[in-house]
Amino acid sequence: MKIDYVIKEIKKKKELKDLSEDFIKDRVNEYIKTRKIELSNLDERSGIYKTMFKEIRKICFDSYGLFKSGKSLKTHISTKERLNYYPVIYEKIFEIIGKPNKILDLGCGLNPLSYDFLGCNPEYYAVDLSESELETVNNYFKENKIKGKTYCLDLLKLDYSALPKVDVAFLFKVLESLENIHKNVSYTILSKINSKWIVVSFSKKSITGKPIIKKGRSWLKRMLAELGYWYEVLDIGDEIFYIIKKS
Ligand SMILES: C[S@@+](CC[C@H](N)C(=O)[O-])C[C@H]1O[C@@H](n2cnc3c(N)ncnc32)[C@H](O)[C@@H]1O
Repeated sequence: MKIDYVIKEIKKKKELKDLSEDFIKDRVNEYIKTRKIELSNLDERSGIYKTMFKEIRKICFDSYGLFKSGKSLKTHISTKERLNYYPVIYEKIFEIIGKPNKILDLGCGLNPLSYDFLGCNPEYYAVDLSESELETVNNYFKENKIKGKTYCLDLLKLDYSALPKVDVAFLFKVLESLENIHKNVSYTILSKINSKWIVVSFSKKSITGKPIIKKGRSWLKRMLAELGYWYEVLDIGDEIFYIIKKS
């Protein structure tokens, strides 16, 4: 079996049809490497293939497919949750960090469409895996004459050299899914981001709407202590925000 076959099969799921082939390829390569599976010897009817296929498709779906549910703040799951809170979220964040001139939104989804709630007019740089979300964001920037740029980039590749230096970087509801794929990857991400401030957020609810029991995210607190970064926690609506200062 060839890797292209696996990629093609995974992309057959409607929500994953636009996911980058590179992203899927990396996940397949990681999977077969850790389990010492020889792809060329694998039969598509075998249990090993079926398990591999299901697990990789789930990884792709959880980080990418789950959120593709519309083209506006109201219909997109992540932004819908915080629609009523946007003004207060940005007000409270900027009370701590000051109003930024440049924002980098990593794993942005449709969050850049909340630009009007910012209460200032920064340059806006938006990064995501999803070409289709970025197209919506780009159109929004153009229509509203916002100085901004989008980047289609896999944060797990850890190469951020194309991204600009900014005043604040947002990592809203994205680190957890990256941690599920590469444990402790957040440590490298946080240290590599070229920004004085970083705001990381987590949802207090699971996708089914049930409260998340372990919402403390002790792994993030441990990393921040190791990195020696100051932080403050804000609890707003259904979300927890870590306002992090890189020193
Ligand atoms: C839960 S959504 C959050 C969207 C937005 N940050 C928000 O809070 O409204 C997660 C987003 O991260 C993106 N994403 C997931 N894995 C990624 C990766 N490895 N590199 C870049 N973006 C990724 C997804 O495409 C999706 O748009």
